This record gives sequence, structure tokens and C-alpha cells, in this order.
Amino acid sequence: MPSTMNNIAKQGDHGSAMMPVIQGVGRAAIEIAAVLRGAVFRGALGGAGSENIQGEQQQMLDVLSDEIFLEEMRSTGFICAVGSEEQEELLVIDEYSHADYLVLVDPLDGSSNLDVDGPVGTIFSIVKRKTANSERPHVSDTLQSGREVIAAGYVLYGPSLMLVCSVGEGVHGYTFNPAVARFELSHPDMRIPETGGYYSVNESNKSDWADGMGDKLIAMKAETGLGMRYVGAMVADMHRTLLKGGVFLYPADSKNTTGKLRLLYEAIPMGFVMEQAGGKAMSSGIAILDIEPEALHQRVPVYLGSNTNVDALLG
Ligand code: AHG
Ligand code: MN
Ligand code: MN
Repeated sequence: MPSTMNNIAKQGDHGSAMMPVIQGVGRAAIEIAAVLRGAVFRGALGGAGSENIQGEQQQMLDVLSDEIFLEEMRSTGFICAVGSEEQEELLVIDEYSHADYLVLVDPLDGSSNLDVDGPVGTIFSIVKRKTANSERPHVSDTLQSGREVIAAGYVLYGPSLMLVCSVGEGVHGYTFNPAVARFELSHPDMRIPETGGYYSVNESNKSDWADGMGDKLIAMKAETGLGMRYVGAMVADMHRTLLKGGVFLYPADSKNTTGKLRLLYEAIPMGFVMEQAGGKAMSSGIAILDIEPEALHQRVPVYLGSNTNVDALLG
């Protein structure tokens, strides 16, 4: 009998509390995958005609994915509020505002791939509130370092539908089995290889990178001999890095002076998964998980991967 996501309940101290929330993520993933597959027939590809708080053009599918994710978090009954890349402010779930947990989410990651039918993803993390349950959840509840994250993971909408997550006891990957319409454990105890793999970066920004990163990349390439792969969707680039080894990076540059990737929605969840898989997750001179967040939509430089390769890059 294959293991389903029920086995999350047996993992670590937080597994049983996290299982219903992660099952909610799984339901959102199934719905979002269906919307993605049918988008061209519903006229749901292309811009929504709006900007998100980051000043980025929202795609219709960014908006739809955000709505689906929020509704599935509401339906768990365990989530008091959701912080989303697509929402300016923290969304409080009024009927469960006494609940213990908050979710942070990038509902659709890599949305520039949508027009070319490339892979996209969803990234999430779960934290326990700091405010009393009798109070209305507050944005300060979301501003917790990665060391306080209870669970995190991502969904990859690729040729198969995968949910990869950790509740603080290793990283486990579940694949949606269409024959029985459920996620089944397909990748138990994922560990990043120490050698081999690829480096993964938008190298077209190299001349604009901060911190001498262009020279550091040249030196790392010479030292490790790594080849290069870049999808442009963090979930897909992270997933390959986790399975094959290597390093994924998005440094600060002259346009994105503090980096492009979002601390709460992208860097911390992926950093949590990477460390749980035995790899390294760094920002500028500090482990991503040690950064104390200051704002919901804060951005940071990101370097994720095998210890040897991240060290070869950052020295
Ligand atoms: P999002 O689609 O959620 O805005 O995220 C896009 C991010 C990330 O997925 C990817 O690693 C990076 O942006 C790609 O950026 P470039 O196009 O600048 O390479
Ligand atoms: Mn993203
Ligand atoms: Mn996004």
C-alpha cells in the first residue's frame, strides 16, 4: 500500500498539526493544476490588467491561483491568516481568526513561463502566531525568521504534479497519482547530492551583479566544472538543484538592489527545504533562515544548493 500525505502526521513534533494544512495545499495544487491545463480554453492566459504590490503585472492565473489557495487554507479551519505575494496586506480569515497558524504563499511562481507552457509552481511556509489567539492576527505574526518556520514546501506543475515539503524532519516528495486521484509518497527523504549537478542563474544580469558575484561565478565554474540550467521558475530550478545537486542563485543587481526574490514567499520556504535536505541556503553574508524579516514583501539575494558548491561560490 503506498504512503499518502497522511504519513506527514507521523513526522516530527509538528507533523500531526501540519498534516491537514498540507493536505489543503495539496487540494489547492490539484485545483490550480486543473486551471492551468484548461486556461487556454477559458481565456485565462495573459495579463489581469492589474499590478501587485511589487509593481509587477499580474497574470490572470496569478489572481486565480491566489483565490484558490486562500479558499483551501480557509477550508482547513486551522489557518487564521494568509500573507500572499499577490496581496498588499495580510488577509485575515475572519471565521478562524482564533486559529494557531499563518501561511505565507507565492501562489504561482514563475508566471513568465505561462505563455510558453513552461513549468510553474506554488511555494508556501507555515508559522505559528505570536499574538494571543483572542486577538486579531497581525502582520507581526508573519515577520518570523526561518528558524521559527514549522513547515514549508512547494508544488511543481510539471509533466507530473509534485508536492515537496518538510515539517522539520527531512524532505519528502509526493506525486499526484491520477489513477487514484491522490498524492502518494514517491520521493522519501530527499537529500541533495554533495557533488555534480548544475549552476542555475539568469546570467544575462552578470554585468550588473553586486558583491563581485560575476568574478565569483567564473571562479566557481572553474573550480567545480558545473554545467548550467535555468528555467526561470524558482520552483523548477530549486527542484532540479535538490535532485541533481549544484547551486541556484539570484544575486542583487543594479536594478534589484536588495535582490529580486521575496524573503517570506520564496527565500525562507526554499531555504527551509534546502537545509532540511542537507544543503545550504545563504543570502548576503547570512544564512537565509537567520534573517529577521522586517516587512511582508521584503526581497533578498539568494544562494541555494550543495554545501560544496555554495561554498565554492561564496568563499
Ligand atoms: P514570480 O513569477 O512569482 O514573480 O517569481 C519569478 C521569480 C522566480 O520564479 C525566478 O527564479 C525568477 O523570478 C526569474 O527571474 P528572471 O526572469 O529575472 O530570471
Ligand atoms: Mn515567485
Ligand atoms: Mn508568483
